[in-house]
Amino acid sequence: MSNYLKNNSIEDSAPAHSLWSSRLAFVLAATGSAVGLGNIWKFPYITGENGGGAFVLVYLLCVAAIGIPIMMGEVLLGRRGRQSPINSMLLLAAQEGKSPRWKLLGWMGVAGAFIILSFYSVIGGWATCYAGYAVLGEFSGATADSIGSLFSALLASPVKLLIWHTVFIGLTILVVARGVRSGLERAVKFLMPTLFVLLLVLVGYAMTTGRFLDGVAFLFTPDFSKLTTGAVLSAMGHAFFTLSLGMGVMMAYGSYLPQDCSIVKTSIIVSVMDTAVALLAGLAIFPIVFANGMEPGAGPGLIFQTLPLAFGNIPGGSFFGALFFILLVFAAWTSGISLLEPLVEWLEEHRGISRLTSAVAGGLAVWLLGLVTVFSLNVWSDFTPLGMFASFEGKTLFDLLDYLTANIMLPLTGLLVAIFTGWVMSRSSTREELGLENGYGFWLWRTLVRYVAPVGVLIVFVYNLS
Ligand code: PFF
Repeated sequence: MSNYLKNNSIEDSAPAHSLWSSRLAFVLAATGSAVGLGNIWKFPYITGENGGGAFVLVYLLCVAAIGIPIMMGEVLLGRRGRQSPINSMLLLAAQEGKSPRWKLLGWMGVAGAFIILSFYSVIGGWATCYAGYAVLGEFSGATADSIGSLFSALLASPVKLLIWHTVFIGLTILVVARGVRSGLERAVKFLMPTLFVLLLVLVGYAMTTGRFLDGVAFLFTPDFSKLTTGAVLSAMGHAFFTLSLGMGVMMAYGSYLPQDCSIVKTSIIVSVMDTAVALLAGLAIFPIVFANGMEPGAGPGLIFQTLPLAFGNIPGGSFFGALFFILLVFAAWTSGISLLEPLVEWLEEHRGISRLTSAVAGGLAVWLLGLVTVFSLNVWSDFTPLGMFASFEGKTLFDLLDYLTANIMLPLTGLLVAIFTGWVMSRSSTREELGLENGYGFWLWRTLVRYVAPVGVLIVFVYNLS
């Protein structure tokens, strides 16, 4: 019998992998996964584009009603299966007497994480490159033109992009290869507290710019007139992405969670911390942007163009600019690590494949796929293979990978997690794993995961495809 079905009952299933040493280790690792470019790069700019406070409100609602219940579902699946998302699903489906085809859910997660990491790493590479620029003082006295050409020169150069992509993947492999305790856990125990301190220092700095209250008002004053259907849907999509859901990552991390740690409490803590970082990032960024009389809705360029320009022209900007980009690299790195983990965990489950081999082979494969993104930004920028369809017009291969993962794989996997934990698994299995009595808490989770989350995800899914 195959390895993953050997231990078919929960009682006698010894974990196949090592476990986090404590609840804190899991919380830091999962928060490290959740906090990433999504919080520091994407959240501020989509908030900027969608009118501030009203968008934040909807986003918070999505996190609470859909994000947290699905996160609990993913961690639950991982911990009960105690293996990679693929093998966990195979085992759990067998335990519940359901079709082994449910392992497809695990496959989609592993594949989604793999594809996302391929381009996440390229953007993580930009952040790493910018950290270098900031440390070298490249931004000081910059003009809009000089900052603009710095950015376009980076994107236009396959060689530069390749170097930074390689550095980023290299850093990721380095940690993942050392395993759960000496790699992941050690890295997050250093990186996450440092990240929090850097963020607080930057918020403190933003307070000195004289425009802090404008930043607060921008983030928290709801302007409902800007709240279009598109804005609501992008809030929901972002809640998913920022909490690292629908990609097998929380399942993989959950598979290392000790049995006595509460899934409910840890999922709530991770989601609250993730949201806090996104809001703090907004509070650090917008006052600096306003202090320079710049536009908060500059889109993706907010971090790589608006901010360097601001840092280049503000007292103390060189130092704090360097801190900011180091923070961004740390945030991206801990997310990159989590994106590699599901694949590595699965490879490692094959007889004779070591952790080191799994990490290097997995990382190399991701690196290779990353070339598609690297070239899409320059030499292949006119290559739009699906351009004949109106909705894919002008989309490069990189855009297509982004579309495939964000609009299709991620919501679909999230939907399947909700269906599996809400409808397919027995009530007693989920209740036992969540450690909830038959009371109100369990009822609430089950209602959200059975009805609210699937409906919400389906609406986003259909809207994004149409
Ligand atoms: N949550 C990360 C962010 O906000 O940047 C990105 C991410 C990491 C998404 C891991 C998905 C994932 F599985």
